[in-house]
Amino acid sequence: MNEARKVVVGVAGGIAAYKACHLVRDFKERGDDVRVVPTENALNFVGAATFEALSGHPVDTGVFTRVDEVQHVRVGQEAELIVIAPATADLIARIAAGRADDLLTSSILVATCPIVIAPAMHTEMWLNSATRANVATLRKRGMTVLEPAHGRLTGVDTGPGRLLEPGAIAELARTVAQTGPIERTLEGKRVLISAGGTQENIDPVRYIGNRSSGRQGFALADIAAHKGATVTVVAANTESLDTPAGVEVVRVRSTRELEAEMLTRAVGADVVIMAAAVADFRPAAEASSKLKKGEADGALSTIHLTENPDVLRLLVDRREAGEIDALIVGFAAETDNALEYGKAKLARKGADMLMVNDVAGGKVFGEERNRGWLVASDGSVNEIADGTKHVIAVQMWEAMEKWTERFAN
Ligand code: CTP
Repeated sequence: MNEARKVVVGVAGGIAAYKACHLVRDFKERGDDVRVVPTENALNFVGAATFEALSGHPVDTGVFTRVDEVQHVRVGQEAELIVIAPATADLIARIAAGRADDLLTSSILVATCPIVIAPAMHTEMWLNSATRANVATLRKRGMTVLEPAHGRLTGVDTGPGRLLEPGAIAELARTVAQTGPIERTLEGKRVLISAGGTQENIDPVRYIGNRSSGRQGFALADIAAHKGATVTVVAANTESLDTPAGVEVVRVRSTRELEAEMLTRAVGADVVIMAAAVADFRPAAEASSKLKKGEADGALSTIHLTENPDVLRLLVDRREAGEIDALIVGFAAETDNALEYGKAKLARKGADMLMVNDVAGGKVFGEERNRGWLVASDGSVNEIADGTKHVIAVQMWEAMEKWTERFAN
């Protein structure tokens, strides 16, 4: 459920502080009670009045304001989620050292709620061994330190260190509030995911497609990237979705394009997930000019179809041939007897796991939420509880990781 929470947005003194305004609005629009706690330096970039107006609460930076209310402990105690965006190298160092010399650090030291940190700094600072060690310390303490995006920084330089987009930070923070910290359990792993829905051309203006939005595949990719994996998404017609930071996106349109990319890129992958809704058939011949409804041969009223390759099955075949060595996971969208049909489909496809969704009445497609079962080839069934597609992704990764361990034993 989308519960309203008491959210503290911590803001450190970096140019990306202006993006915190959008983050505050994102939480407010979902009904959260937001308190902004900037550092003194953050107010060089965004004025206290802006944060007060957006949050509807007073803004303080030091530990000697509202002393009668014992504010320096109360803010942290009452918080149900703390999100720090942007977190500078200096703030990260102060948190790692356990400092409590301003309202933000003292609130963090008191808090027992989930803490999500979105860093922003120059690449050299992010890669510096002091920052690496501090980030590792925070992660060990159960805080979720998100990977910054690659891209243009304040000057002419580019590299890792750019603040994630506010919408992405808010989504990940809400996920962490529900599921717990995102742990770096996929470091060194290569993950390949197909997402979206393939389109098969009838003529230059028409196609056969489906209602898949690609959101679940992108959410799986986003979580995997924040767990430390190197992630590639082969995305079919997902132009309306933002690309998750740190994820390579290869755009395709038709099933045959998707097949080619997936089979090539699966070599060397540790996990391959077929989340795309793949068209089972395509027009046997694509007309080179627009078909007219009055044409005598009835080309438009009778479209001859030919079967598309089953990409999931081909991946399993390639593994059997020793060409790839990945955990192979598929999806099944079913409208009746979802679990039963899903299990049968898993056996037929020969994959390791299948995420079975009940899509009766158009549920799931394009929606924010989802639920179902992740069934495995040993007959085990992991119930995936109702949640946003990010929350589903976290649950799926947990179940897959357990399975991989079982695989190795
Ligand atoms: N899939 C695939 N290639 C296809 C069709 C499906 O790789 N040509 C994959 C999907 O990405 C998904 C899984 O197979 O991971 C199941 O897809 P689904 O459409 O539910 O199954 P189908 O095999 O098409 O079975 P049916 O339509 O008969 O239910």
